[in-house]
Amino acid sequence: MDLRKLKAHGVLLLNSNGMDVFYRGNSLTYKVIGGIFDFYFFSGPSPLGVVDQYTAFVGRPAPMPYWAFGFHQCRWGYHNLSVVEDVVENYKKAKIPLDVIWNDDDHMDGHKDFTLNPTNYPRPKLLAFLEKIHARGMKYIVIIDPGIGVNKSYGVYNRGLANDVFIKYEGKPYLAQVWPGAVNFPDFLNPKTVDWWVDEIRRFLELVPVDGLWIDMNEASNFCSGLCTIPEGRICPNGTGPGWVCCLDCKNITQTRWDDPPYKINASGTQVPIGYKTIATSAYQYNGVLEYDAHSIYGFSQSVATHKALQGLEGKRPFILTRSTFVGSGHYAAHWTGDNKGTWDDLKLSISTMLNFGIFGVPMVGSDICGFYPAAPPLEELCNRWIELGAFYPFSRDHANFYSPRQELYQWKSVAESARNALGMRYKLLPYLYTLNYEAHRTGAPIARPLFFSFPNETKLYGLSTQFLLGSSLMVSPVLDKGKTEVKALFPPGSWYNMFDMTKVIVSKESHYLSLNAPLHVINVHLYQNAIIPMQQGGLISKEARTTPFTLVVAFPLGATTGEATGNLFLDDDELPEMKLGSGYSTYIDFYATVSQGTVKVWSDVQESKFALEKGWTIEKVVVLGLRGIGSDYEVAVEGNGVDSSKVVFGSTEHEYTEKLEDGGDKMKNVMVEVKGLELDLGKKFAMSWKMGIKS
Ligand code: NOJ
Repeated sequence: MDLRKLKAHGVLLLNSNGMDVFYRGNSLTYKVIGGIFDFYFFSGPSPLGVVDQYTAFVGRPAPMPYWAFGFHQCRWGYHNLSVVEDVVENYKKAKIPLDVIWNDDDHMDGHKDFTLNPTNYPRPKLLAFLEKIHARGMKYIVIIDPGIGVNKSYGVYNRGLANDVFIKYEGKPYLAQVWPGAVNFPDFLNPKTVDWWVDEIRRFLELVPVDGLWIDMNEASNFCSGLCTIPEGRICPNGTGPGWVCCLDCKNITQTRWDDPPYKINASGTQVPIGYKTIATSAYQYNGVLEYDAHSIYGFSQSVATHKALQGLEGKRPFILTRSTFVGSGHYAAHWTGDNKGTWDDLKLSISTMLNFGIFGVPMVGSDICGFYPAAPPLEELCNRWIELGAFYPFSRDHANFYSPRQELYQWKSVAESARNALGMRYKLLPYLYTLNYEAHRTGAPIARPLFFSFPNETKLYGLSTQFLLGSSLMVSPVLDKGKTEVKALFPPGSWYNMFDMTKVIVSKESHYLSLNAPLHVINVHLYQNAIIPMQQGGLISKEARTTPFTLVVAFPLGATTGEATGNLFLDDDELPEMKLGSGYSTYIDFYATVSQGTVKVWSDVQESKFALEKGWTIEKVVVLGLRGIGSDYEVAVEGNGVDSSKVVFGSTEHEYTEKLEDGGDKMKNVMVEVKGLELDLGKKFAMSWKMGIKS
């Protein structure tokens, strides 16, 4: 995407061959070593227009289930089930929200996909554990890798062989090495492979009722390179440590232009062959397609097959997390940004990476919170800051390497406190995030966006990747540096209300930096004027948070005498594969507010009310920010929702507006009006209004 002269456009070269891409500000150069020049231009002219056009073409982002927006805990090295049980209990004890607990390959038998280690993860115990957490509304996800262990007593492998599902070299399955030792790679371009994969997943779900699948190492990663054989009788080690040293007998393949093309792309540097530590590029897939041409879509093809399996079998909305992506992957899967380090640099980088993936049509994205590879200790301060930022990633997961020290959020008192603050806010915002998930699915709009998406005229914001927006109106300004208790944040013009203390507001006349207080447990999140956001009470598990009453927060420009605000809310049965209106299990609500001549009006318009009414959701409170005058003498009139107005409590509080007005504006009052004690049916239209008085 290019944004210049206030206009955005996008360019796609749809090509799966190896390439180098050079962006030099004024020009874009592709050096491609195969395929065709299949170019697409997306004319925008707004950034949202570009992603809308792009995702209409490559596939709209997959809808995510509600719980996927909860917090996820994972690590490599949960040696047995008791450790996992302990983690879940410790989250509960520490009162830190947790929706999803994950297993890396620790539950597997000899690191083989779709198996259980009978000693460390005995099936009856695992099933009992899952029954318990499922009853609470929590979910369980495990990893699978594409490499299928070559092992005559392994059913998955034997069935694969019988169905001829593997990628070939010279007529035989191509031999590689990953965690289980020697492996073959399924050829997901072959429809027979897809059927076999779907069947293996079906079998696995009968063994363990997992709620989603994590597909890793699907670039595909190989611990060896070239053409390998395994000598009779050699058993490759399986596991985490020596497991990644190549134990096969391999030779480089250099005699073909597929393995040694004249132009060396910069993949793992230019000094190594392009097939380095992956599937040899002269191996071939279904219909004779060369790996040289198909390498880049390997992870994509696995996402498609895995999606088919979960959607078809369970009849539920799939959740798939993939490491490797290609154009269109967002239509099938969420993405995490791979093996980062627990460093301040990688904390910063996580923002630009996340924002890029939003633009690529993969809006459900996040980085390993607190870092995958351990940083030089101490990690505590970094982990505080990382959960404060990570709580606002669309996909929010703490994950660590096998050799890392433990880094669950409850491991430090300070991190636990930051987590309760930041995730506490996330869980209140779940209805907003879920509505953004719907918008992403409909229009491609990223969940997390660069600021220029909402302010394309503010050229100062173009290069900004230390802050971001959730949707169009919530701005996250994290601390990204060690030892800092302040953060310099850019504020585009307008009024910005602090989400943790709505009496605090920043008014910016033109985009400029302000220093914000940010002690260790504080993350700055601001709500922009003209917005209405639906919030709930929060909780420790999204399922319970989802049942609580709603509060609508309405933000006008500070001191507005005339103004308007809008917002929306999408609700549905998140188990349904499709996310749409018209299913009978969804509701869509528009919220509106105006202020004019001292009269404030707030109302809603409901499409397909049945679902929301059946669920019994209510609105308990409406908070209006930024008004002028005082209103406590007046009654609120509520219409159209069968409400007993006498029970409605109407209060306004007035707060000195203390933020520095850099451009010398008048000191103003920030009047916050709270209309409480409501029991409006969310699924029915309502309208309320009142008049603001002028304080004598
Ligand atoms: C590599 C993945 O990127 C990482 O997240 C995972 O823990 C390891 N593989 C082990 O499965």
